[in-house]
Amino acid sequence: MPKYELVLLKNMAQPGYTGALDEYRKTGGYTAFEKVLKGIPPSEVIELVKKSGLRGRGGAGFPTGMKWSFIPKDHPGPKYLCCNADESEPGTYKDRQLIENDPHQMLEGIGIACYAIGSHHAYVYIRGEFDLGAEIIQRAIDEAYEAKLFGKNIFGTGFDLDVVLHRGAGAYICGEETALLESIEGKRGKPRTKPPFPATHGLYQKPTVVNNVETLANIPYIINRGPEWFASLGTPKSAGMRVFCVSGHVNRPGNYEVPMGITMREMIYEHAGGMRGGKQLKAIIPGGASAPFLTQEHLDVKMDFESIAQAGSMLGSGAVTVMDEDTCMIWAAMNLMEFFHHESCGKCTPCREGSAWLLKILQRIEYGQGRMEDLDLLVSLSKRIEGRTVCAFGDAEIAPVLSTLKHFRQEYETHIQERRCPFRPNVVLAMAGGH
Ligand SMILES: Cc1cc2nc3c(=O)[nH]c(=O)nc-3n(C[C@H](O)[C@H](O)[C@H](O)COP(=O)(O)O)c2cc1C
Ligand code: SF4
Repeated sequence: MPKYELVLLKNMAQPGYTGALDEYRKTGGYTAFEKVLKGIPPSEVIELVKKSGLRGRGGAGFPTGMKWSFIPKDHPGPKYLCCNADESEPGTYKDRQLIENDPHQMLEGIGIACYAIGSHHAYVYIRGEFDLGAEIIQRAIDEAYEAKLFGKNIFGTGFDLDVVLHRGAGAYICGEETALLESIEGKRGKPRTKPPFPATHGLYQKPTVVNNVETLANIPYIINRGPEWFASLGTPKSAGMRVFCVSGHVNRPGNYEVPMGITMREMIYEHAGGMRGGKQLKAIIPGGASAPFLTQEHLDVKMDFESIAQAGSMLGSGAVTVMDEDTCMIWAAMNLMEFFHHESCGKCTPCREGSAWLLKILQRIEYGQGRMEDLDLLVSLSKRIEGRTVCAFGDAEIAPVLSTLKHFRQEYETHIQERRCPFRPNVVLAMAGGH
């Protein structure tokens, strides 16, 4: 029995629920879409979403109603809505669960969002590796067309909407909203320089909203249960429930839907069942690979946008990775840097070249070849990347380096002084043989 009333994970928690359209409709599905189309003007829908306090669940936490209000009302040409289902941030797997088990929540949210911003064309951009998810979404879209929930003259109101599934091809960077737009347009997935922003110059240079799967899935419930209900969950500035993906050295890794603002201690020790093997907790990444590491000292920090930022990290994609006392922090940072180096799109020099250098230095420290000067070098290199790149990926790739140096500097020094990794002696031996 979950401690809090589930919202997005509620239907799928019922035994036998398949997420098919008829089952979703039995739970009240598509009544919010009908309600807005038949009786709430678009500007009022935007006001309701603003009032709810909903903030984007894709990473940056931007207020959703405000984002919608940036779309020019008098624009003559097409406007677009893109649902970001690229979910490639390491440790993040909430959108996948929402897509695979209850896809119509997100599709209904897409319908309402399109009506609110005056768009008749929506794309769902799904991560290339999500074969099953793509199949399920396509089936759900087909069901919605057959039931005349998408297409022409929906609910007899004269509102038309087309929804198209677009599959990615495996690049993490295509989750960044402007790279996603480039990719849909058939170009290489590289982020655009901003401004201009997608609200005015998005897909095909037309006004566009990009929203995350979880953000959109919340919309029908805000309409049906009211913005006050949503705002009463969570904290005043971080409203609502959030699906956190807990992974790493815990007893029960998984997705947990809880109100924002519970402590990391509650998340790890109550919901995720505590540390595996009764080990000590050493480090936590609270919001996906792009979020700086926190430590045991931060266990009582609340999991809302402001509190996590105040503690020096970010809530990001909601992926909580927990590491125990046996984890080498240099190895952890190196592992993430391998990912960032591999996924850098190469457009800007500081990110492309910097990630290669950071990885090289971390590798030599981990494998017993490090020098004390490397620690300053890691910092100065990171500072030359920070704020000097086209997209936020540049700032993300330095987060593991700077935060492990901040909280675990002694561990770096021990590696250098002892010329080995104290946590992974066998790996050092293997590497030593190769040098
Ligand atoms: C490198 C990078 C990767 C991103 N990946 C994703 C992703 O996989 N899914 C997602 O929803 N947002 C991702 N984002 C955030 C998007 O750019 C965008 O802010 C988000 O989709 C907006 O939706 P929201 O307002 O509903 O959060 C990423 C951002 C960056 C910089
Ligand atoms: S910061 Fe990195 S990922 Fe982003 S545009 Fe520049 S090179 Fe590409």
